[in-house]
Amino acid sequence: MIELLHGDCLDVLPTLPDGGFDAVVTSPPYNLGIGYRTFEDTAPRAEFLGWCVRWALELKRVLADDGSFFLNVGAAPKNPLMPHQLLLALTDGPEPLFTLQNTFHWVKSITVETRKGEQISAGHFKPINSKRFVNDCHEYVFHLTKRGDIPVDRRAAGVPYQDKSNIARWGHTGGQDLRCRGNTWFIPYDTIQSRDSDRPHPATFPVALVEQCVRLHGKGGETRLIDPFLGIGSSAVASIRMKLERFTGIELDDEYLAFARERCAEEEVPSA
Ligand SMILES: C[S@@+](CC[C@H](N)C(=O)[O-])C[C@H]1O[C@@H](n2cnc3c(N)ncnc32)[C@H](O)[C@@H]1O
Repeated sequence: MIELLHGDCLDVLPTLPDGGFDAVVTSPPYNLGIGYRTFEDTAPRAEFLGWCVRWALELKRVLADDGSFFLNVGAAPKNPLMPHQLLLALTDGPEPLFTLQNTFHWVKSITVETRKGEQISAGHFKPINSKRFVNDCHEYVFHLTKRGDIPVDRRAAGVPYQDKSNIARWGHTGGQDLRCRGNTWFIPYDTIQSRDSDRPHPATFPVALVEQCVRLHGKGGETRLIDPFLGIGSSAVASIRMKLERFTGIELDDEYLAFARERCAEEEVPSA
C-alpha cells in the first residue's frame, strides 16, 4: 500500500499507530536556508533542533522496536556542524531518543586513480567559487536505532569481491561472492525523466539511496516504510520498485506532493 499524505508531519504522525513501521528513510529540511516552496528553512539553530526533537519523538513511537531510522542530512561549507548538532540532539542527554548504530557517507561525486595511474571521475560535481572551501561531495546518512543492537543484512547491500580468491580463502564468506559494502556509498543523483530541465525541488535524494537503506535493514518486501518529509516522492518510488508491504509519505507542500503522485503513477501504481 502506498499512502501519500498532505500536511505537517507534526499533525499527521500522531494519527499513525505505535510500532507500525519497520524503517524510516528521510531527509528533513537542513536549516541551511534552502529555498523550499512552503517551508521557511531559516529558523535559529536552537529552535530548529527543538523542532527536530519533536518529530523524532513521534518517529520513535511509530517505529518498531527493531526498526531502523535512516536520517539523511547534508551540510554547507559555511555551516559544517549542522548534521552533528542534529545528531547530538537526537542521541545525547540523560534520555537519548536514539542510538547511532552506523554512519554512512552518501558520496555524490568521486575521482579514483587506477593502478595504471588513470583518473576516473564519476557522479555529479557542482562547482563552487571559493578561495577557502573545497567542493562538498557527500552527505551523511545516520543509521539510528532504539538500542544500537539491531542486526542488519550487510550482504543484501553488499558488493562482489574484486579478488575472487578471497571467497575460498576467507571462511566468513560462506562461499558467496558478496562482501559488505562498507559505509561509503557512491550514488549519483537521479535524472527525473519528465522534468530534465526543470527540477521541481531543490533538495532531493536518489531512489537508490532509499533502496540501499531498505536492503540493509533486511526485511525485504515485508518492510513497512515511512518518510515524514516526502518532497517529490523518491522514497515512495523506491517502495514501489521494491514492492514493499506499506509506504507512508507526508509532505507539507501541495505542489511537491502532486509531483510525488505523478512519479508514483509513472511507476504504474496509483497512490492513495
Ligand atoms: C529535504 S526535502 C525532502 C526531499 C525528498 N527526500 C525527495 O527526494 O524528494 C524536505 C521536505 O520536507 C518538507 N517539509 C518541511 N516541513 C515539513 C513538515 N512539517 N511536514 C511535512 N513536510 C515538511 C519540505 O516541503 C521539503 O519538501
